[in-house]
Amino acid sequence: MFNLWYKNAVVYCVDVETFQDSDGDGIGDFKGLTSRLDHIEALGATCIWLLPFYPSPNRDNGYDVADYYNVDPRYGTLGDFVEFAHAAHERGLRVLVDLVVNHSSIEHPWFQASRAGDPKYRDWYVWRKTKPEDAEKGVIFPGVQKTTWTRDTKRKEYYFHRFYEHQADLNIANPQVREEIERIMGFWLALGVSGFRMDAVPFMLEDLSSAHSGWEPHRYLSQLQTFLSWRRSEAILLAEANIPMEEAPDYFGTGDRLHVIFNFPLNQKMFLAFARGEAGPVADFVKALPDIPQTAQWATFLRNHDEIDLGRLEDGEREEVFAAFGPEEDMQLYDRGLRRRLAPMLGGDERRLAMAFSVMLALPGMPVLWYGDEIGMGEDLSLSERHAVRTPMQWRGTLPNGGFSDAAPKDCVRPVVADGPFGYRHINAERQMLEIDSLFCRVRNLIRARRGAAEIGWGKPEVVDVGDPAVLALRTGWQDGEVLTVHNMADRPALARLPDGLDLSDVRPLLSSGARIDGEERTLRLDAYGFEWFRLKGK
Ligand code: NOJ
Repeated sequence: MFNLWYKNAVVYCVDVETFQDSDGDGIGDFKGLTSRLDHIEALGATCIWLLPFYPSPNRDNGYDVADYYNVDPRYGTLGDFVEFAHAAHERGLRVLVDLVVNHSSIEHPWFQASRAGDPKYRDWYVWRKTKPEDAEKGVIFPGVQKTTWTRDTKRKEYYFHRFYEHQADLNIANPQVREEIERIMGFWLALGVSGFRMDAVPFMLEDLSSAHSGWEPHRYLSQLQTFLSWRRSEAILLAEANIPMEEAPDYFGTGDRLHVIFNFPLNQKMFLAFARGEAGPVADFVKALPDIPQTAQWATFLRNHDEIDLGRLEDGEREEVFAAFGPEEDMQLYDRGLRRRLAPMLGGDERRLAMAFSVMLALPGMPVLWYGDEIGMGEDLSLSERHAVRTPMQWRGTLPNGGFSDAAPKDCVRPVVADGPFGYRHINAERQMLEIDSLFCRVRNLIRARRGAAEIGWGKPEVVDVGDPAVLALRTGWQDGEVLTVHNMADRPALARLPDGLDLSDVRPLLSSGARIDGEERTLRLDAYGFEWFRLKGK
């Protein structure tokens, strides 16, 4: 099969604002990010996804865009963006940018024109003369957001906002809005990006219009893909769509709609499995994975910039995960999730953390990492809502603000985690680069192994029963190759019995902590949280 880069890419997600400040104003910027590409390259990522960096009142970390065609001056200029993208490409790193067109900021000139009744923009948002009865239903941020319809004092009508009231939903049923979305995509593609992480896709496809009929939301995804491929053939749409597996066909189509979708249900099962120290939740999920078109892909992840959304687990299961990883009320958010980083949830135990990364990388899909997790950064629960997991990158133990910025700590966009076991003096990139057993080096080795095992990106895994409920063993084949990954999710040693059906005649370690398969007994002993990757066939 021809090469589709996203089947085996490794994506590193960065928030420019909190990665590296270059000019001492306390805010990360494109020049700073460019100066830190070494780190991303050393980790072995092949693609960078940037959280929104567009001009914005920044009331939702940039997901409230006020100008789709520019860079927020706090982060630099369009020129700085292009320099960054060029430098990334020089290192073979692709760049994806966030496309946030379900809604705009209410400060966007389009919304201002719409509320003023400007005929050109009147229908660019979703308006109603009276407040719909279900206005209090379907809020995304319960506890913070009260309604989805807010009255505008100027137009004296209600506008719809699936998210915060300062994020008015664009009326995508309006063809002019759709044209504008293509213009935005065309603009960033011309600046060299390899595609878009599309925000809130299921909500984008909600048809709330009354005025414009004939719009077929899911078909619209095919139009977007067609547009993309004419402008830049390698470009992809990576969708934020927290959908049940049954709905995947609507979103992937026959491979002509979205290229990649974040696998949110799998993320939740992983945390349930980690909480229990049992492979079952992930193994059962893998067994039930639907077939997807060959050109489509899932995106796998452990953590991202939001809360871990556990909304698709059963109530009791969610309670188990809460009890294991976020027992305090302050760690929980929106009645469904946890506003914590990976490392503190797993007790800072590097064996367990490496195992978690290994499981994620062994599962089918394109892995996506949230910056800072590769060194085991912690969260700051004193910050509001999801900001807890968005503290600045910790570069050096010996510099103020962990090397993130020369500004006074009070002027930093968010405080760097300084105290406790996850403070920058203990947890920082510089130190971990030098220590070969560090989490960073272990994750780097895992990424190297993953990049050498294209079967995982292309194939569909088969769960191998090895006789211990703590062990997740996956065999994935593709063309002439086959790999086997074995993970002990429990805090005790495990013995995996490899079934006779598994051809071990040419088995070689692909990534190893030293455990070997006993050829005669067909067994593999794993330490607590131990894991091993093997190549069974192929080069
Ligand atoms: C999903 C983003 O990941 C989240 O951070 C944001 O608040 C909402 N979409 C609204 O844009």
